[in-house]
Amino acid sequence: MSTIANDEPSRRDFLYIATGAVGAVGVGFAAWPFIHQMNPDASALALASIEVDVGDIEEGQSIIVKWRGKPIFIRNRTAEEIEAAKTVDLAELIDPAARNPNLGSDADASDANRAAEGNEALVVMIGICTHLGCVPIGEAGEYGGWFCPCHGSHYDTSGRIRKGPAPENLYVPPYAFISDTTIKIG
Ligand code: FES
Repeated sequence: MSTIANDEPSRRDFLYIATGAVGAVGVGFAAWPFIHQMNPDASALALASIEVDVGDIEEGQSIIVKWRGKPIFIRNRTAEEIEAAKTVDLAELIDPAARNPNLGSDADASDANRAAEGNEALVVMIGICTHLGCVPIGEAGEYGGWFCPCHGSHYDTSGRIRKGPAPENLYVPPYAFISDTTIKIG
């Protein structure tokens, strides 16, 4: 009798385990299409904003990161480059607008309105020429900023168009500091 009594619970245990295993597999199959469907949204969200540590960029160095498929120029300017950008007469500029969505739309293209708030050495810009969309070359051109070789547009060390067919300054992306050395773009 005691043998039968022992067998019954073990059969029930087996059935329970087997049912549980089927249930777990069932959940696995059910969850995959849902998670799979979520993937585009999750990846789009991940690309919507990026965080970049700008603390390691040496003076005079630039890095390029990718945000929403676009190159983003981040430059830690030298004192000479800042000075060159600050001393420009704004009346000489081809495009008088800051092109900086972090400020009001009426902000002028002074260097202070183009550089990062609280860090005048740092400039963060979308690296797409405002003429026809080529990617300009850094530390080049007649103004020592960026040069677009496609049709010869020269940008200064503040990313402002100074010569050539491009009509507007390089655009600043929406961004903000989230720590002393990290910016969040987007
Ligand atoms: S695309 Fe840059 S000058 Fe034409």
